[in-house]
Amino acid sequence: KIVPVIMAGGKGTRLWPLSRSAAPKQFMQLIGDYTLFQGTLLRVSDRDLYEPAVVVTNEQFRFLVIEQARDAGVDLGAVVLEPVARNTAAAVAAAATVISDVFGEDRVMHVLASDHDITVDQCYRACNSIALREAADGKLVTFGITPFEPATGYGYIEVGAALASGAYAIRRFVEKPALENALKMLSAGGFYWNSGMFMFAISTLLEEIAEHAPAVLKATNLAVSRAVADLDFIRLDSGAFQKCPDISIDYAIMEKTSRAVVVPSAFKWSDLGSWDAVWKAGVRDEHENVASANTTVTNTKNSLIMTRGTHLAVHGLEGIAVVASEDAVYVGRLQDSQDVGKVVRLLAAAP
Ligand code: GDD
Ligand code: MG
Repeated sequence: KIVPVIMAGGKGTRLWPLSRSAAPKQFMQLIGDYTLFQGTLLRVSDRDLYEPAVVVTNEQFRFLVIEQARDAGVDLGAVVLEPVARNTAAAVAAAATVISDVFGEDRVMHVLASDHDITVDQCYRACNSIALREAADGKLVTFGITPFEPATGYGYIEVGAALASGAYAIRRFVEKPALENALKMLSAGGFYWNSGMFMFAISTLLEEIAEHAPAVLKATNLAVSRAVADLDFIRLDSGAFQKCPDISIDYAIMEKTSRAVVVPSAFKWSDLGSWDAVWKAGVRDEHENVASANTTVTNTKNSLIMTRGTHLAVHGLEGIAVVASEDAVYVGRLQDSQDVGKVVRLLAAAP
């Protein structure tokens, strides 16, 4: 059975004011009945295929993880707690070490981001079975999404030769390009978005980390061997983990290894990285509005109206996001959604 590893320690700012440092995007309910983290857990809840998930998160989110898993009715494997954030290479390496202590190194792990909206369908399952075959064959598998706009918030993967399984060799990775470069890749073709999900055998991953990011492996090994098990949690050793380099798995391993392959994945996927993306992925009414409960919307089109607190009444808007939390409201053009992070930085700097 596959061991799912859910990375849930990130702190997004572009969905302000609903995402806060105390409850970042993955723990928010943006679409449907579940939070993005719960949706991720449910995607790997078939116990014929998957072991209970290993969740790697920051110490400060531990209760959110436990509560949301319970509310979704999904059992957890281990919850690994990071004393400080050291990025995704460290999270994946720590999970691999924890899993190999329990199951050995032959198992395949499926690394999932916790903050994506994905539709599980026949296509999703087919991609996963191709990935599993390649992972069992000693490859590091990425899932590539067909790009439809020159997004600058994603990494891109250029494909090489087709392999027998349906996967492709990888020519190169381009992480978060400037707009000009994103436009070039889009028109050139042969590029996919890096979905941020991975599949590999534990042994393959450990070998590649040892070769390309030995400092990450050393620090996380020590942090796991000195970890303290406390009820539901595995607390990584703080002194050891702090010494780990802060680097993403993309930069540390995927861009360097010669064993990476990509599975082109046509299932519905969104990173929901901005209000614009939430609007695109949401359920739209006949005027192309996405509105939450507790709103009154008239003479308005192409807009996102969401509230968690006070009632929102809007009139005469077009292409606008209005988002209200219990104590703050954001209003801006949907097309400028990528800039919300700048607003948040201004707020943080305000006296
Ligand atoms: N445990 C843990 N610790 N999880 C983390 C940490 C950390 O220090 N940092 C990030 N994560 C989690 C996030 O919660 C998220 O689920 C996932 O790891 C990816 O991190 P992001 O910070 O959201 O990455 P990104 O969106 O900027 O970029 C990555 O994902 C894109 C697709 O969404 C890259 O892989 C890009 O290439 C890719 O296109
Ligand atoms: Mg992300």
